[in-house]
Amino acid sequence: MTARIEVVVSAVRAIARDVVQVDLKARSGVALAGAEAGAHIDLHLPHGPVRQYSLVNAQPESAPMDHWRIAIGWDANSRGGSHWIHEKLRVGQVLQASSPRNQFRLDPAHRRVLLVAGGIGMTPIYAMARHCAAMGIDWQLIACARSATRQVYAEELKALGADRVETWCDADRGAPIDLSARLAHQRWDGVYACGPAPMLNALEQAASHWTAGSVRVERFKAGQPVASERKVFELVLAQSGLATQVSAEESVLDAIERLGMDHPSSCREGLCGTCEAPVLDGQVEHHDSVLSAAEKATNERLMVCVSRCAGARLVLDL
Ligand code: FES
Repeated sequence: MTARIEVVVSAVRAIARDVVQVDLKARSGVALAGAEAGAHIDLHLPHGPVRQYSLVNAQPESAPMDHWRIAIGWDANSRGGSHWIHEKLRVGQVLQASSPRNQFRLDPAHRRVLLVAGGIGMTPIYAMARHCAAMGIDWQLIACARSATRQVYAEELKALGADRVETWCDADRGAPIDLSARLAHQRWDGVYACGPAPMLNALEQAASHWTAGSVRVERFKAGQPVASERKVFELVLAQSGLATQVSAEESVLDAIERLGMDHPSSCREGLCGTCEAPVLDGQVEHHDSVLSAAEKATNERLMVCVSRCAGARLVLDL
């Protein structure tokens, strides 16, 4: 696990239908670590779950911050994070959090960017829009939501650049946005998107002909194969001299822990990057949302909580 710091909830505010915004300050009173657009923190909830939330107020210069601001949508399929925050979180409560990490960075070489947000996926995208505005980067943003009442940071975005923001509400238009025409030609150096899986899948499909590294997405949940599709393989931990079979029902991380090793982990869903491990041999079958397509292609590392081996044997430098 990464080091934790104690934070106190300094403000809780409803900012859209089914969305609350939460401000966190260091309990010690000192400034919090700065973070660039796209960064997230792990929030350790009192009853056990650890959840990742993007920092809405990430700063272009990554300077120390007075508070961290996150926003959380109500998730009907919540496994204990979203519901607890909406129902139980109160000002003054003390929680533990990690330092910010950034797996969803803007490429500094990208001078013209398209930002696409779906629902609560606006949280890192809004920080990116502010970054672009502050750094003189040419940007456009497509803000999608199921209805106007669910749009977050709509007024703030209008103030940032009304002519740069297109809103799309499914309820008004009668269907989710079709991105294929907008992405048919690569008119931007990069597209950055966060939102529900169907939107991101459609976006990746529509921009599949764009240059490598120009399409970056952050997913709420990583896609993972069902147990019946998972192969059994041998796992070798080279440094420790340990080996075992990884069954279809368990993850590489489960197997590592079963061998008695303490390996860092947090989300256990392929979202946060905490459990990354170096690969020495074996073809990785990636299922995370952390590594880019180019990074996955190098076969140099994997997220052991979700990624597996495409062959019979996987050797890790652990
Ligand atoms: S624990 Fe978060 S990516 Fe594996």
